[in-house]
Amino acid sequence: MKKDLLTTNDFSREEILSLFEKSTALKEKRKKGVEHLPLKGKSLGMIFNKHSTRTRISFEVGMNELGGRALFLTGDQLQLNRGETLKDSAQVLSRYLNGILIRTHNHQEVVDLAKHATIPVINGLTDLNHPVQILADIFTIKEKLGKIESVKIAYVGDANNVAYSWMTGASLMGMELVIACPPEFKPASLPQLHGNGKVEIIEDPFEAVKDADIIYTDVWISMGDTGDLEKKEKILVPYQINQKLLNATGKNSLVMHCLPAHRGMEITSEVLDGKDSIVFDQAENRLHVQKAILETLLSQPSQ
Ligand code: CP
Ligand code: NVA
Repeated sequence: MKKDLLTTNDFSREEILSLFEKSTALKEKRKKGVEHLPLKGKSLGMIFNKHSTRTRISFEVGMNELGGRALFLTGDQLQLNRGETLKDSAQVLSRYLNGILIRTHNHQEVVDLAKHATIPVINGLTDLNHPVQILADIFTIKEKLGKIESVKIAYVGDANNVAYSWMTGASLMGMELVIACPPEFKPASLPQLHGNGKVEIIEDPFEAVKDADIIYTDVWISMGDTGDLEKKEKILVPYQINQKLLNATGKNSLVMHCLPAHRGMEITSEVLDGKDSIVFDQAENRLHVQKAILETLLSQPSQ
C-alpha cells in the first residue's frame, strides 16, 4: 500500500528514527561525493500554489541527487485551475508520476489529493501543517544535542502551521513543547497528539523560554494570512526573539527559525546571526531529510 506524508502523525516514532538514520547516511554520502541513485527513472510532480525557496529547491535537488527528476508545476498552469477536478487530476498524475509534493492553502485539498492518488503524496505546507519542516528540525536538534527525548522547545510567536506541526511532532517524539502566543492567535483547535511528549500553550514568552534547550520562531504573517495584519504584527511585538528573551532561558539555548525570516520583526538580526543560532544548519538539513523522505516513500514496491 502506498504511504503518504500529510502530517507527522503519518509516521511512527520508529519510522521517524529510521528516517533520521537514512538522513545521516545520505548527508555523509553527499559530503564524500558518493553516488546513490535509488530513484533512477522516477519522477516527482511538485505542485506549488504558494511561494517557496527551501522546500522547492531541497526536493528538486534531492530528486536529482537520488537519480530521479522533479517537475515544478504551478497550480495556475494546471487544468486544475480551469475546473478539472482534484479527483480526476489525482488519477491522471498517478499514471505518469511516482510521487506528488504539494504546497497549497487548504489542508483538505492535500487530504483529498492523497485519497484519490495511487502514488505517495507529500505535504509541502498547507495553512494547517508543515510536516517536512518539522521532521528536518527534529533531525537538526538530534544532531546538535545528541538526543530528542525530553528536549524542551519554546516556540514563541504566531501559533501557525509550523507551530501546529510542532505539536504533533514533539508529542510523537517525546519532547517538551511550550508555545507562547497571544490569546488572539492561539490555535483554533488542537491536533490529535500521539506519543508521550508534553505540549502546553501559554501567553508569557519569558515563562515559556525558561530552561528551554531550543527557542524557535516563525514569521508573524504567514502566506495567505487574512484579517487585520497590521494589528496582528503590533500584538505580536512582545513575542520577538531578541537577546533579552534569549538571556532569560537560564541556560545555553539554541535558536531556530524555519525561514524566511523577517529580521527586526519576529527575530532580531543580532540573534539570527549570533553564536547560538543554528538556522542555516537547520535550512541545510531540509535537503538531507527531504531526500530520506523521498527515498523512503518513492522506493515502495508499487511505486
Ligand atoms: N521553511 C520553508 O518551508 O521555506 P520555503 O517557504 O522557502 O520553502
Ligand atoms: N508560516 C509560514 C511558513 C513558511 C515556511 C507560512 O506559512 O508562510
